[in-house]
Amino acid sequence: LFDGHHSVWLFGYGSLIWKADFPFLERRPASIAGWVRRFWQGSHDHRGTPEAPGRVVTLVPQEGATCHGMAYLVTPEEFAHLDHREKNGYLRVPIDIVFDGGGSVLGLVYIARQDNAAFLGAAPERDIARQIATAHGPSGPNADYLLHLAQALRELGHEDEHVFAIEAHLARTAG
Ligand code: BEZ
Repeated sequence: LFDGHHSVWLFGYGSLIWKADFPFLERRPASIAGWVRRFWQGSHDHRGTPEAPGRVVTLVPQEGATCHGMAYLVTPEEFAHLDHREKNGYLRVPIDIVFDGGGSVLGLVYIARQDNAAFLGAAPERDIARQIATAHGPSGPNADYLLHLAQALRELGHEDEHVFAIEAHLARTAG
């Protein structure tokens, strides 16, 4: 994907939507087809600890679904840097990125599959909210991650039933 390219599009669907703390050439709201965002990946290094892992999002294949997010055009050098940072169960996968407003491009996305060691998998959204409510890690409270993601999706103007349902459960848990 890099051969002969001076830059590459990276699709962000989690923390990358609101926390782009890396240099990029361009940023555009975009989506990918056939995937849904799920709080199914465990985090014992960023939003939790090995004893009390948090939960962060990954992508799960689902026919007919659309996952909205933010695409970033980055240099191959910057990408190599991100690649190192984002590992931890996530693999980089080629993906068709569709820009809001039209047009598409072959880019990359990080996906944590169910065969990675940190994968937690499905659970009732109420239980996921409870786990997120109590988990803390070096990057901060797991709840902040959830609330930032929900807010960023709202600002993008896209519904995400799974994220919003967990957010609503968290509000009840906290209140
Ligand atoms: C994302 O926002 O797309 C993302 C962030 C960290 C790891 C994997 C994916």
